[in-house]
Amino acid sequence: MTKNLSRRGFVRAAAAGSAAMAWLGAGGAPTVLAAKADKPALLGGTPVHQGGWPHWPKWQQAWEPEVLAALRSGRWSGAGGGGRIAQFEAGYAKLLGAKRCVATASGTTALMVALHVMGVDAGDEVIVSPYTFIATYNAVLAHKALPVFADTDPETLTIDPASIESRITDRTRAILPVHIYGLPCDMDRINAVAKKHNLAVVEDACQAWLAEYKGRKCGVLGDLGCFSFQESKHIAAGEGGAVTGESDELLDRCASYRDCGRSFGSFKGSGYFSHGLNYRMKHYQAEILLQQLDKLVAETQLRRQNADYLTAALKQIPGIQPVRLPDNSLPAWHLYPFCYDGEQFHGLSRSKFMRALAAEGVPCSGGYHEQYFDGLLDQLLNSRGFKRLFPPERLKTYRDSLHELKGNKLACNTTVALFHSLLLAQRSDMDHIVEAIRKIHAHSEELAKKA
Ligand SMILES: Cc1ncc(COP(=O)(O)O)c(C=O)c1O
Repeated sequence: MTKNLSRRGFVRAAAAGSAAMAWLGAGGAPTVLAAKADKPALLGGTPVHQGGWPHWPKWQQAWEPEVLAALRSGRWSGAGGGGRIAQFEAGYAKLLGAKRCVATASGTTALMVALHVMGVDAGDEVIVSPYTFIATYNAVLAHKALPVFADTDPETLTIDPASIESRITDRTRAILPVHIYGLPCDMDRINAVAKKHNLAVVEDACQAWLAEYKGRKCGVLGDLGCFSFQESKHIAAGEGGAVTGESDELLDRCASYRDCGRSFGSFKGSGYFSHGLNYRMKHYQAEILLQQLDKLVAETQLRRQNADYLTAALKQIPGIQPVRLPDNSLPAWHLYPFCYDGEQFHGLSRSKFMRALAAEGVPCSGGYHEQYFDGLLDQLLNSRGFKRLFPPERLKTYRDSLHELKGNKLACNTTVALFHSLLLAQRSDMDHIVEAIRKIHAHSEELAKKA
């Protein structure tokens, strides 16, 4: 223990030590003492974790015969669907327990398709979760609709259902909740508001493959669900996406819209071509995804086991608060986030905490920031199109409302998140994560003083 530790600091350090003992058991005691005695790597000590983490994404040689066959077939374009694309759609729908799946070129195009099919049009408003990747906002803006932000619950990082209703206007068409980091939103409460006001619900499940809420998978909890298979995702083909749902009528419309408006199933539209765009997946991408369905199931389980283990340990450390989950839900853990309280770390800022953690060999990020202040929205609100579509008073109240997102601001300022591939490492590597954070806690006073 450092000589100049304050009384409060002493009490906290002691609490952290005893909590650690409780978690590690008797055999763990030497590790705890070592965590205190070792200098933080940022101050010249030895990093707790050495040897890196699982790479992502990882190609598997076993996939090659089928993927090569897809490439050699010369049937690459997804025009008209069928073939490997239809096989993937059936396989993914089965995994989700969804009636149907329509493959798309990306998660962004899946959102574009779903919003179009749910009738979102120029001049409409869509209630969106602000704590998300920018593509969620952009899909709404591309429809020349206004993404109206509900607040984030900083304890769950998902949309606060209680903040939705006050944001509904006579222009609101849909609610777009995001299962961010694979954490399921509280869909019962969201669906209840949507039903009351006759609004569509499109789930952004782009980070939530196989996540579950009350026994059902994310992506089948609203009218339509959207997924991404981009490179960083748990099932990845470089790019790719899907829309899922239970209604044949809606899914036929999705399949048509993503395929230049070709008639599909029961949807004949205006004859041969209706309004649509080329948002198609390619057959060889579908084959790469088909190869990964079993792997997705097995790895999801491993991520959950390691995440649960981390949660049990990290919640013992003062100033570290794992996310709160809705009852009876199972996340997909695209990232493993926790809330960091610098007050419990002698005022050590979040950015310094993250630097210290990275120096211990545990890469991390601060998650999303308040992107609505970045200029993108201003640019669009000042554009000719938006000025034509929305009265100036509405655009003013909209701009003002961005400052009311207190929960989201807190979430943006206090989150620290670990990438999902860390959860695919060994159990002993999870111990390293915990030990690294505990070490930083024990030395937080010295770290806080370091420039
Ligand atoms: C929450 C969320 N929504 C939408 C998208 C868009 O998906 P894509 O990158 O496949 O277009 C992503 C992808 O990162 C995402 O994380």
